Amino acid sequence: MAQLWGGRFTEETDKLVYNFNASISFDQKFYAQDIEGSIAHVVMLAKQGILSKEEKDEIVKGLTGIRQDVENGTLEITEEYEDIHSFVEANLIERIGETGKKLHTGRSRNDQVALDMRLYTRIEVLSVDDLLRNLLGTILRLMEEHLQTYMPGFTHLQKAQPVTLAHHLGAYFEMFKRDRLRLADIYKRMNYCPLGAGALAGTTYPLDRYYTANLLGFEGPTLNSMDSVSDRDYIIEFLAALSTIMMHLSRFCEEIIIWNSNEYRFVEIDDSYATGSSIMPQKKNPDIAELIRGKTGRVYGALVSILTTMKGIPLAYNKDMQEDKELAFDAIDTVKGCLALFDGMLKTMKFNRQIMEKSAMMGFTNATDAADYLVGRGVAFRDAHGIIGKLVLYCIDRNCCIEDLTIEELKSISPFFEEDVYEKISLKTCVEKRLTVGAPGEEAMKKAIQEQKEFLERH
Ligand code: ARG
Repeated sequence: MAQLWGGRFTEETDKLVYNFNASISFDQKFYAQDIEGSIAHVVMLAKQGILSKEEKDEIVKGLTGIRQDVENGTLEITEEYEDIHSFVEANLIERIGETGKKLHTGRSRNDQVALDMRLYTRIEVLSVDDLLRNLLGTILRLMEEHLQTYMPGFTHLQKAQPVTLAHHLGAYFEMFKRDRLRLADIYKRMNYCPLGAGALAGTTYPLDRYYTANLLGFEGPTLNSMDSVSDRDYIIEFLAALSTIMMHLSRFCEEIIIWNSNEYRFVEIDDSYATGSSIMPQKKNPDIAELIRGKTGRVYGALVSILTTMKGIPLAYNKDMQEDKELAFDAIDTVKGCLALFDGMLKTMKFNRQIMEKSAMMGFTNATDAADYLVGRGVAFRDAHGIIGKLVLYCIDRNCCIEDLTIEELKSISPFFEEDVYEKISLKTCVEKRLTVGAPGEEAMKKAIQEQKEFLERH
């Protein structure tokens, strides 16, 4: 058991207490950030004349050596230390002797851990954003490919009006684009440096917090030392953004599972992203999509967990806050894994254009357009709605679609039908006429795609 605080104690910590309290098993994940923060801290201490230049050089060399040795595998982070901070400090003292004991001057583990977690989270915000960017690239390429792949659009999972695959995918482009904007926003808010807040009330050493903040690439120092050590909002915000990303992925997965089903066959998931059954030889299951949908729950769980942990904590630091790490790490890794796998699955998936188009034709997705046709011929919309309703019923009885009827049959239901109706309610016309901003018509879609491309160039 290696502890930084033995002085005041006469008895050993109970072994169970020690294990319950220790965080090294998970906070070793940010050893690199702990060292990076310590280096910035001593560089600042030397600039302020609190440490000599020689002392600073010695400490920086020692810390850099620790990082290298951990990275090349010669130094193992073991559980004999309470946390990553103790591990680094003890190793430093072992390596460089007495000077190592000056590292923690003007610092507390409270501002230290607040800094480490922020540095760690900050990088992860960027790597999640990178994965989202890749996914948006994949979606945009598919959109360009499928401007004329007609398919039914659904409401209530009932065929509603025809759209294109490009348009449907474009909806997800919007969702993941908003996710990226959310991350950018969170990044801006979190990018302030808590180091120098001390245990809770700053320190009496003349620290230059602007300097440390600047060395570590922050916008500036945080402005209230009590808040600095007890703020975990940025983790909560990040987990909320991650939960939203998972919600979007999960909806997309749900659609892919439906589309990939034997009944729909709109898509076929590539063999490399599907799995089989141990008993039913015919099966090819969409396990990856299901797992991503399933893992959404665990990311939501991390968010709810930390929200709950934080809700009753008085100022300033309390040990409850140690609970911010494990589930957050797990959620971040989960989302990154899901984004990468989802992108791969989408890229390799086959879209069955004919089946999608046939499905759009067979589901009366042009019924609104048929009503609008009658409106164009002078019928009031409510009457036209009733007439087409009857027409649909007539077709259901005969198991055909509106455009399969002869002009005589159509006229027997409403004299306002003329020969041009077939062209006016064809699938192509129904989609291509929809040209309002954001609609599926090809010209409208091309404009939207152009804007999305510009977004990807800017971000
Ligand atoms: N392992 C602790 C955490 O993650 C580090 C801070 C410890 N500070 C303290 N006063 N015990 O929150």
